[in-house]
Amino acid sequence: GVSSNNRGQGSGKVNGSVVEMKNESYLEGEKPLPIPPILKDENPDPDKAEFNLVAQKGSMEFLEGKKTDTFGYNGDYLGPVIRVKKGEDVSIKIKNELGEATTVHWHGLEVDGEQDGGPHSGIQPGTTWNPKFTIEQPAATLWYHPHLIHKTGEHVYKGLAGLFIIDDEVTEKLDLPKDYGVNDIPLIVQDKQLDVNGQIDYNLSMHDVMMGLQGDTIMVNGAIDPYVEVPKGKVRLRLLNGSNARIYEFRLSNGQAFYQIGTDGGLLEKPVEMNKLVLSSGERAELIVDFSTFKEGETVELTDQGTPFMKFVVSDNKKSGPSEIPDRLAEISEVDPSTAVKTREFVMQGMGRNVSINGKQMDMDRIDEEIKLHDTEIWEISNEAMGMMGMNHGMAHPFHSHGTQFLILDRDGNPPPANEAGWKDTILVMPGEKVRVIATFNHKGLFMYHCHILEHEDYGMMGQFKVD
Ligand code: C2O
Ligand code: CU
Ligand code: CU
Repeated sequence: GVSSNNRGQGSGKVNGSVVEMKNESYLEGEKPLPIPPILKDENPDPDKAEFNLVAQKGSMEFLEGKKTDTFGYNGDYLGPVIRVKKGEDVSIKIKNELGEATTVHWHGLEVDGEQDGGPHSGIQPGTTWNPKFTIEQPAATLWYHPHLIHKTGEHVYKGLAGLFIIDDEVTEKLDLPKDYGVNDIPLIVQDKQLDVNGQIDYNLSMHDVMMGLQGDTIMVNGAIDPYVEVPKGKVRLRLLNGSNARIYEFRLSNGQAFYQIGTDGGLLEKPVEMNKLVLSSGERAELIVDFSTFKEGETVELTDQGTPFMKFVVSDNKKSGPSEIPDRLAEISEVDPSTAVKTREFVMQGMGRNVSINGKQMDMDRIDEEIKLHDTEIWEISNEAMGMMGMNHGMAHPFHSHGTQFLILDRDGNPPPANEAGWKDTILVMPGEKVRVIATFNHKGLFMYHCHILEHEDYGMMGQFKVD
């Protein structure tokens, strides 16, 4: 596991995914879960943060004896965790050493369009981009990834993604597990398709074009079938579905219940007990799992639709979190629908290369929607079911908007499930379903909304809105 000197802000190792492991005999031959290091903050001022990222080429041994060409930030694959505090002034320098253009988008972060890292913020090879912004939103588990037009899917698939964690006074005061890598564990779940040589295969088949690329191998933090030692007690998991297209249905192999405490944009008001979590591409969830009834060395697996892909090994030697989960978490100030000045409709339709929103495919020179700064709006997002074989035939699309976090008003007229009653930036919309969300747009500039199945995004299931 991660030793005590490798946790907390600014104390992590900067490069690569460094893991120190204990060699227990029952774990022999198995891979420990890599814990992404926390990126060093180069600014000694506690109210300011300065980070350096390098987007670079790398190589990994996902399959034994086979070298896979990859991309990563500050290392071979994935990136370090950028960890900031609410109120902090942040500067990030991103150097592009990929040999091709890319961008870095802060998914879920509320910043102006210029800092958002969308398709208009290309970083040419050999150059550096330096966005600066202030953190103005509550504690949350966000993430960052490239967003170059037509290239997002490929860049993310090769390994460009990392977590972006915000802390605030609320989370600091709450008695939640917070020892990073020990009882507060990040899980970036992605699937991959590797060819016979172990290379990442981003050639899209007809099926991939339709459904988005879904590989047959699931990785967590860049490792296949890893294990992680956890304390006997409460453990917080920060889950990110960083896959291009796959929708996961997570369960524990023993059927045990867990609690969801956070959504995309922050903590829920209260923990929600559940034994299954559906997470679509781009979404995050914070969970608390209680391992206190396990014996030393006992294991339980995390499964997707019944298939295990990682293992928790319960250990007496790890520092446990608090024994109780607080029943009040964060305050979520409701947004009154009567304050909304406008209702907009977004219809996701089509299939394969013909996916579109409101009948239009992405055009970087066209602004689809114009919004007044500080306005509150209701967005009605629907997934048009295909007519051919009757209703509800089609596929689910995760809708994501930049520039704001929203609250779900209703799904087909019904209040959202308790685990979605918090800040969201990505929502899964089922075929034939209509979801109404409410948001206030407090940041200026040009932003994207799109399907977070990255192949759909790359084929044009994306539009632009301007706030000013
Ligand atoms: Cu996670 Cu527009 O992106
Ligand atoms: Cu985003
Ligand atoms: Cu889609």
